[in-house]
Amino acid sequence: MLNFLYDIPTKVYFGEGEIKHLGEALKEYGKRVLLVYGGGSIKRTGIYDRVTACLKEAGLFWAECGGVEPNPRIETVRRGIALCKKEQIDVVLAVGGGSSIDCAKVIAAGANSAYDAWELVKDKTKIESVLPVIAVLTLAATGSEMDAGAVISNPETMEKLGVANPGMAPKYAFMDPTYTYSVSPFQTAAGTADIMSHTIESYFQKETGNDLTDTFAEGILKTCVKYGPIAVAEPKNYTARANLMWAGSWAINNLLKYGKGNGWSCHPMEHELSAYYDMTHGLGLAILTPHWMRYILSEETLDRFVSFGVEVFGIDRTLPKMEIAHRGIDALAAFFRSLGLVSTLKEAGVGEEHLEAMAEHAAKLMKNPYVALSKEDILKIYRAAL
Ligand code: NZQ
Ligand code: ZN
Repeated sequence: MLNFLYDIPTKVYFGEGEIKHLGEALKEYGKRVLLVYGGGSIKRTGIYDRVTACLKEAGLFWAECGGVEPNPRIETVRRGIALCKKEQIDVVLAVGGGSSIDCAKVIAAGANSAYDAWELVKDKTKIESVLPVIAVLTLAATGSEMDAGAVISNPETMEKLGVANPGMAPKYAFMDPTYTYSVSPFQTAAGTADIMSHTIESYFQKETGNDLTDTFAEGILKTCVKYGPIAVAEPKNYTARANLMWAGSWAINNLLKYGKGNGWSCHPMEHELSAYYDMTHGLGLAILTPHWMRYILSEETLDRFVSFGVEVFGIDRTLPKMEIAHRGIDALAAFFRSLGLVSTLKEAGVGEEHLEAMAEHAAKLMKNPYVALSKEDILKIYRAAL
């Protein structure tokens, strides 16, 4: 186990009706709010009305930056930054899924900056001060409500890049599972895959001796395997929505990383799919992860796969190790299919045309992954997933 600093700063109001604390939370940080949201789901569901009622009741001024795209674009971030400057905003309030929260974080980083927003995304050392961010989560997936990262797309350069700064971690997150009742079966499935991928990225690491953290990870994965299908079939099942929501936050809020040192593998590969094809992030991960697993399975990585198969999918531990590993990977692929997600890149609209460029870029983005992957390795994984 490596040394670490435990630092998870976000305060969480969890559960039905906890939005009632929103006004007081915002007032800790100022009186002028920028409300950031997506393409309109919060208006259809009534969440917009509930949030703005809290703002009114607390006597707060607010301006709005709506229309954040899934895979949020740098242009929208720039629009939000301009509003912050014009309206002298004190605090940025994101209401939505990961895209709205990520967009809000980079708006907050750019509000007091002389740099263009894309400069900040490309080089996090240019981020100096960040306005406080508060998140109201409406989709269990990315964990952005409780982490310091954001991922932004630039369609002009065909890039989708992550950026992180401790100041971007939300000061408060409001998590009401009933706000996710309206999430479609497809987005519920993709969100479940994303939560599992974050967990898997932190579970497949070289460092050993992290039994406690590994057990947390297995618990998160089992929670997704249990409740993902229930949430897809019964969108208003509170227990399923609540468990997925909390799992999503803990999968990426750093807990699973403490004591470990490797970077991620499937995320850099997936971000290329989102950049070139505007693919839903969790779908790309569901397609790629089993192929990545098959590619890196070897005598060196075998024990990790055995734990994964036995602990997460209940594979018989008396079987030969290699068989357990294969069965575990097959079970994961079958699980994603059972949620209604397609399992090949072709079915998701991806062809051969950009694979070389995507593999080259992903190889550059991958930092010290569990198993080193060259451009050629990544290309093989993309081709296997086609
Ligand atoms: O835009 P609206 O109208 O709100 O609709 C959204 C969108 O169409 C809809 N939705 C959200 N909440 C809903 C709802 N529909 C009905 N009822 C609700 N309650 O769902 C669609 C997808 O929303 P989006 O925010 O894009 O999804 P998600 O939360 O999966 O976020 C994906 C983005 O986060 C990034 C991804 O790359 C992607 O850009 N990630 C951010 C991370 C982070 N900050 O740490 C880590 C992740 O690995 C990921 O990369
Ligand atoms: Zn993710």
